[in-house]
Amino acid sequence: MQRTPIIAGNWKMHKTIQEARDFVRAVRSFLPGGKVETVICAPFTALAALVEELHNYPAAIGAQNVHWEESGAYTGEISPGMLVEIGVKYVIIGHSERREYFAETDETVNRKAKAAFAHGLLPIVCVGENLEQRESGKTKELVRDQVIRAVEGLSSEQAKQLVIAYEPVWAIGTGKSSSAEDAQEVIAFIRSMVEDAFDSQVASQVRIQYGGSVKPDNIMAYLEQPDIDGALVGGASLAPDSFLQLVEAVR
Ligand code: G3P
Repeated sequence: MQRTPIIAGNWKMHKTIQEARDFVRAVRSFLPGGKVETVICAPFTALAALVEELHNYPAAIGAQNVHWEESGAYTGEISPGMLVEIGVKYVIIGHSERREYFAETDETVNRKAKAAFAHGLLPIVCVGENLEQRESGKTKELVRDQVIRAVEGLSSEQAKQLVIAYEPVWAIGTGKSSSAEDAQEVIAFIRSMVEDAFDSQVASQVRIQYGGSVKPDNIMAYLEQPDIDGALVGGASLAPDSFLQLVEAVR
């Protein structure tokens, strides 16, 4: 099964609307289409401007969070339908920063993933262990729980379109990336978990990214691994030059 690699920038809480416009104006004519899917996950305020700027260019826009309800008394929240209405295609769900600072749990991740699919929004579900869990040998156990609970109740058709990002927490923003071999091992394990939860067809189609201190000079090593289908990139996605080098790394 040939899976199209997906390189997604996660801008986190960076860039004003004007900065976002300037960024995409600098990169959009150089974006390769076809062999790689390029995604920019921006703050809510910049999403509509990015959709407009990238109209007719080979890049999709993603949000970094979503609520599971369609509407209601949820002050400060954004619903899946609201994102779809402005042309957003992807949404990051369960990033470790949201798990750590905003009480995201495996249960809310699952609710959000189901709600996203119900509205035609594609989730990028993040999983990954922290340093303590890694050092105590609990990586696989933890990641298995996160994956199994995230996909509960999804149909096979939905699961095939899912993107999972394996982001070891200790590698995020630290400059200490996982070795490509270690990332491959965990990602192959995640694929086997998807096979257990669904079947081998779903497992061969689901795309699984690595994230955590990915830079232009180390991305190739990840992309060469058989089960790694791209990267979710924070810091190195913020400058036009390095972002382009990341998407151009897909051959
Ligand atoms: O979601 C991407 C991320 O958390 C990794 O961030 O800055 O280590 O690439 P960074």
